[in-house]
Amino acid sequence: MDQPVTIAVIGTGYVGLTTGACFAHLGHHVICADVDVRKIERLDAGEIPIVEEGLAEIVAGARSAGRLEFVVGASTASERADIVFLCVPTPQGDDGSADLTYIEMAAAEIGPSLRSGAVVVNKSTVPVGSTRVVERVIRRDDVTVVSNPEFLREGTAVHDFLHPDRVVIGSVDRAAAERVAALYDGVDTEMVITDPASAETIKYAANGFLAMKISFVNAIAAMCEAVGADVASVVHGIGTDRRIGSAFLNPGPGWGGSCFPKDSRALVKIAQEHGYNFTMMRGVIDVNDEQRSRMIHKVVRALGGHDRHVLHGATIGVLGLTFKAGTDDLRDSPALAIISELRRAGAVVKAYDPTTVPPVDDHRSSALVGIELCATAIEALTGVEVALVLTEWPEFRELDLDKAAEVMVGTVVVDTRNLLDPAAVTATGLSYDGVGRK
Ligand code: UGA
Repeated sequence: MDQPVTIAVIGTGYVGLTTGACFAHLGHHVICADVDVRKIERLDAGEIPIVEEGLAEIVAGARSAGRLEFVVGASTASERADIVFLCVPTPQGDDGSADLTYIEMAAAEIGPSLRSGAVVVNKSTVPVGSTRVVERVIRRDDVTVVSNPEFLREGTAVHDFLHPDRVVIGSVDRAAAERVAALYDGVDTEMVITDPASAETIKYAANGFLAMKISFVNAIAAMCEAVGADVASVVHGIGTDRRIGSAFLNPGPGWGGSCFPKDSRALVKIAQEHGYNFTMMRGVIDVNDEQRSRMIHKVVRALGGHDRHVLHGATIGVLGLTFKAGTDDLRDSPALAIISELRRAGAVVKAYDPTTVPPVDDHRSSALVGIELCATAIEALTGVEVALVLTEWPEFRELDLDKAAEVMVGTVVVDTRNLLDPAAVTATGLSYDGVGRK
């Protein structure tokens, strides 16, 4: 590295905290700021508020090297920094567009205190044109605003930061872009330096394309069920074509999380605002909504019915609540959406997830209200008519199937993640229904 730089990171959510900790790990001095006093106190006391593999270790390492600080308030951090990263949330507004309130508030707060020559980097996912919005809010000729979208996946964020497929930087000022690129010295990857609008579009296009892949494979899985084909063989068969590849083609209950649902809708909205009707992306979203309904229909069938009336009073044992494995994040989780539909139809839901073992933190409980949370998978399956796998936690592969068959009152396992071995399930006397599996 040429020279360590002092970096401020505004917002210590999973993107901000990972970004800050990883830059400190690379040798820079990093000051992470948040408005949430309690969160900063916890971080300062060495607690990591999210489940993220490898994060605790690099935070501890950077802290003991004296390179990572946690402070309350954006300007407290930005006034000491050469480069300031905005990593605040951009939630979905009522009309599907990204809500820029937090970005604008953070930009307004740091504007007056920024050092002359500072670079402000937008890492939050923002609509095309937002780099300009931040410039207008900051109103400083001696400060440059650059876009540097993140491509981190929750659960593997540290790995993704340190071993990215590329780093994208968008700026009208080449020197500022290169200063940001230099922060990544030590990370062996391609630097894609472009203009701000292209950088912002790359982020949405990447998430939109990935969501499209999953919707596509879920639609193919539905086809497989109709024609008697096996989706794993089909994915293997198409994935060997290098133009297609087999990554990100696992069928499931539909995509969710804090990014794909919000970004896919924002993409449709941005296109619409600029006069383009993005019918393909609308279709990707529709297929995803249908996928959730298809999973509910599998439960209906498992109960021997044809419509949702059969769910009334039925007991369902759910394995997995988070939107995917490896994270404790429940935001826009397909599992919770499916459970809420089941409960609306009158089903009683017991559930086990390794990250929501009771007693559960207050701040997470509202999404879980009405679900009987259990301490083990077997407890969640005890006395239920249908077992329903909704998140692909590896530990469910080790489920004691004989025991499950013994404690359930019903006989069907609906596996929306194709996680279990169908032969092993049926060997216990239970029957198995996966997604697009023969
Ligand atoms: C996603 C992108 O993968 C990241 O590159 C991006 O930085 C991030 O959004 C973001 O915009 O912040 P993430 O939301 O953490 O990351 O989760 P993914 O691993 O992409 O999974 C998203 C959803 O798709 C999950 O519900 C997952 O279960 C589902 N999925 C994923 C499938 O159903 N099948 C697959 O093959 C892959």
